[in-house]
Amino acid sequence: MKIHIIGGGNLGVSVAVGIAKFTEGNQVTVTRRSVANIKHLEELGITVSSDNKHNIQEADVILLTIKPYQVDLVLAEILPAISNKIIASAVSGLSIEKLQNKIGPLNHAIRVMPNIAAQFGESATCITFQDDKATYGKEVVALFEGLGTAPVIDEKLMDAATVLAASGTAFALRYMRASMQAGIEIGFDWKTSLAISAQTVKGAAEMLMQEQVHPEQLIDRVTTPQGCTIAGLSEMESHGFSSSLIRGIKSALKQIKGK
Ligand SMILES: NC(=O)c1ccc[n+]([C@@H]2O[C@H](COP(=O)([O-])OP(=O)(O)OC[C@H]3O[C@@H](n4cnc5c(N)ncnc54)[C@H](OP(=O)(O)O)[C@@H]3O)[C@@H](O)[C@H]2O)c1
Repeated sequence: MKIHIIGGGNLGVSVAVGIAKFTEGNQVTVTRRSVANIKHLEELGITVSSDNKHNIQEADVILLTIKPYQVDLVLAEILPAISNKIIASAVSGLSIEKLQNKIGPLNHAIRVMPNIAAQFGESATCITFQDDKATYGKEVVALFEGLGTAPVIDEKLMDAATVLAASGTAFALRYMRASMQAGIEIGFDWKTSLAISAQTVKGAAEMLMQEQVHPEQLIDRVTTPQGCTIAGLSEMESHGFSSSLIRGIKSALKQIKGK
């Protein structure tokens, strides 16, 4: 497929690099106004341009990774040049209905919510589309399955997906930062501490994904009666470990919904 990414910032570049590195037979173009910032992508065989319409007629999928306030301007620029295109949008808060209205009946709106781990083939990309766009939706799902997981979800959960998968990256990293800091306090230099913390999180996630069990079942396997793990967990929970995370996620969702 030919994928045309408009908005070569944090997310657009991550997806472009992920496609170039982890999928086969796909060609990627990325655009942004200050194109010098993404020139280095050419080393990966990615085409870069400051012209949003650069070869856009040849694209199979146009991916929007711009800020919400940039959407109308970009669409006004590209719509006269395209027809019968899949337009996948990662723009937070922009509903399929609104996007479909903006792009007209000749193009096909798909909503995606990847995260920046797409760059390493490890994004959790939630995808949603209307029933009559299933054929196009499946093409986008197949693309993002090459960059991690790509569950199709109900559109009403898209804001929740933004918080859990996109903001969730920051939440997980903050956990790792705290774990690393604690590692320094108990004797490691920061690099060793970070390497141990990151691999431990990766291992825990791998176990969960492979065994498909409730986390508490795995926690039970490392929790010896009267041991250090239960002592640590109890102390963390007494300081609101789980509840602060849950409250943070709910607060992020309120923010996105404008409540
Ligand atoms: N970051 C994430 O983890 C993440 C995850 C999921 C969804 N999202 C959503 O993805 C969108 C982008 O987020 P981001 O974090 O990647 O933002 P960002 O880093 O600011 O990237 C946006 C890019 O769009 C470019 N741009 C602005 N106007 C443009 C135009 N007229 N034509 C072409 N490119 C233009 C900007 O570059 P120039 O100024 O050089 O043009 C910028 O590099 C947002 O809607 C966000 O909510 C982000």
